[in-house]
Amino acid sequence: MKYFIFFFCVWQIYGLYDNDFDIDCKGKTFENVTMTAYYPDYSGDSESGFLDKKGRKLRTLQDYLDDRTGYVTLAMDDDLGLPYGSDVCIPEINKHYGHRVRFQIRDSSLDLKGSGYERVDICVRSEMDSYDVSVNRKVTVVFVQNK
Ligand SMILES: *[C@@H]1O[C@H](CO)[C@@H](O)[C@H](O)[C@H]1NC(C)=O
Repeated sequence: MKYFIFFFCVWQIYGLYDNDFDIDCKGKTFENVTMTAYYPDYSGDSESGFLDKKGRKLRTLQDYLDDRTGYVTLAMDDDLGLPYGSDVCIPEINKHYGHRVRFQIRDSSLDLKGSGYERVDICVRSEMDSYDVSVNRKVTVVFVQNK
């Protein structure tokens, strides 16, 4: 029993490390990507202002930090043909918050069309949050493999 608990704990610690404290990102890497913030728009007539390209709610960085979602919605150029929900890791954002923030490519926009891997848009809570310099900067975008 003792051994069982020991191994269980090691497994748990490994799990935590892997999930939250490993702020480095491993995978296919794109440097100097221009990140721009956007935010859900609840004021318009159309639901598309607060839904992603498949009609799911936009998940903001603040929702993630408050532990209300398991990922943050990112938007990239649709022409890249990235699978919906592709997992992305951004070391600069991880460093800023001191732990791993999970991102998924789930949105796009006309504005991003043709920008390839040079641009990424991050969803934040509000217009105020969208002016934060930490989400309007050059970042490294790493596509991590699903385990
Ligand atoms: C990114 O920008 C830095 C500094 O401007 C430059 O040294 C580096 O070569 C760039 N990397 C890529 C992949 O363009």
